[in-house]
Amino acid sequence: MARIAVYPGSFDPPTLGHLDIVRRASGLFDQLVVAVGINRSKSPFLTVEERMQALACCTAEFPNVRVDSFSGLLIDYAKSVGACAVIRGLRAIADFEYEFQMAMANRGLCADIESVFLMTNWEHGYVSSGIVKEIAMFGGDYRNMVPECIVPIIERAVRAHRTDR
Ligand code: PNS
Repeated sequence: MARIAVYPGSFDPPTLGHLDIVRRASGLFDQLVVAVGINRSKSPFLTVEERMQALACCTAEFPNVRVDSFSGLLIDYAKSVGACAVIRGLRAIADFEYEFQMAMANRGLCADIESVFLMTNWEHGYVSSGIVKEIAMFGGDYRNMVPECIVPIIERAVRAHRTDR
């Protein structure tokens, strides 16, 4: 039976750190579903469609990876795609507490789906979607932090947010 993993996140926007985790996880599982969590209470930088488009272009080189979105509980979504594992990336110690809570909560909801933590390459250890967003909005150079093919998607979003105000 194919071993399927879900890699969930906000991916707003995806970074080279996320892509590094995709590469590592895609080598460990038969299929990897990169899933954009839809959170209506957050006001996003990129729309869900833009985030999916960005993920699709930067993961195109991995034949066992597909991109999807979900709303509601992650664990329900993971069950619906037949996943045996949820992948999360870890950067610094600061990520641990939130990830620990989430993993325990998810285990309480479904003990059969394991949380698997992968560490990003050290060079991406400080990169986050929040930092990319902030640099992009203030006109700085963030291009060494994101996959090249998503730069036009970020630039379009920056223009849209500036004209919003
Ligand atoms: O990239 P992020 O913002 O850390 O991703 C968070 C995400 C989308 C994985 C998380 O918010 C999530 O799992 N949302 C779905 C709701 C859920 O299942 N909550 C219970 C587990 S804590």
